[in-house]
Amino acid sequence: MQFTHPDIVVTKDGSHTLVNTDNQQLYHSHGGAIQESKHVFIKHNLQNWLDNPPEGSINVLELGFGSGLNAYLTRLEAEKHNVDVNYHSVELYPVHPDVAARLNYPVELNDSDTNRFLEIHTCKWNCQERLSDNFSINKVYGDFLEQDFPTDHYHSFYYHAFAVKAQPELWSNQVIDRMYHALRPGGILTTFSATGQLGRSLRARGYRHEKPSGVGGKREITRAIK
Ligand SMILES: C[S@@+](CC[C@H](N)C(=O)[O-])C[C@H]1O[C@@H](n2cnc3c(N)ncnc32)[C@H](O)[C@@H]1O
Repeated sequence: MQFTHPDIVVTKDGSHTLVNTDNQQLYHSHGGAIQESKHVFIKHNLQNWLDNPPEGSINVLELGFGSGLNAYLTRLEAEKHNVDVNYHSVELYPVHPDVAARLNYPVELNDSDTNRFLEIHTCKWNCQERLSDNFSINKVYGDFLEQDFPTDHYHSFYYHAFAVKAQPELWSNQVIDRMYHALRPGGILTTFSATGQLGRSLRARGYRHEKPSGVGGKREITRAIK
């Protein structure tokens, strides 16, 4: 397994993000990494299941583990609300744990137990790891496009690829269709991107498409419900 060493930069809310050294893509909005992730993936996605916990676990699927910020925020929420989350994240270019150890997320989130973030990075890949009573994670090393996903399984899909210009293949109808199968009825897809093309593709596939307002200088984001 080959790790990458992306650069770290500070975003406008004071939290770090990473920059891919090959394509210069930021992992989060320059307007604020923590602010964006909380808004797109927690407030407009996970929160629905925290408010209406399903029987058993909340199953979350993520495209791109990257900095681990979304997994960390999800873990913090799961532990705060005492619900169980099974987190499944796929990553083709894993970040080296030494880089992750320099990210300021635990400090910015006032988490005195920095280990809650670090162990998300240092736990094993390609197997289900239970990190607490409320959070287990399966980080899969591989290409998202080559994975098989169970049908009607996930409550939440965190669609967190790089921008469409950088990776158009990850925004194709094929992905949108496969996620429709993988989500359970009522399952929620959210992403920072809000292109007209994405909205049309989601509606054509049968999702209920919403465009909540964005944060950090972005006008809108995308929320789609199966
Ligand atoms: C916008 S970043 C978001 C990462 C992460 N969710 C975070 O909060 O840091 C996109 C991520 O997708 C990963 N990625 C790119 N192509 C991929 C592919 N084909 N399959 C899986 N992950 C991929 C990148 O390496 C990067 O970590």
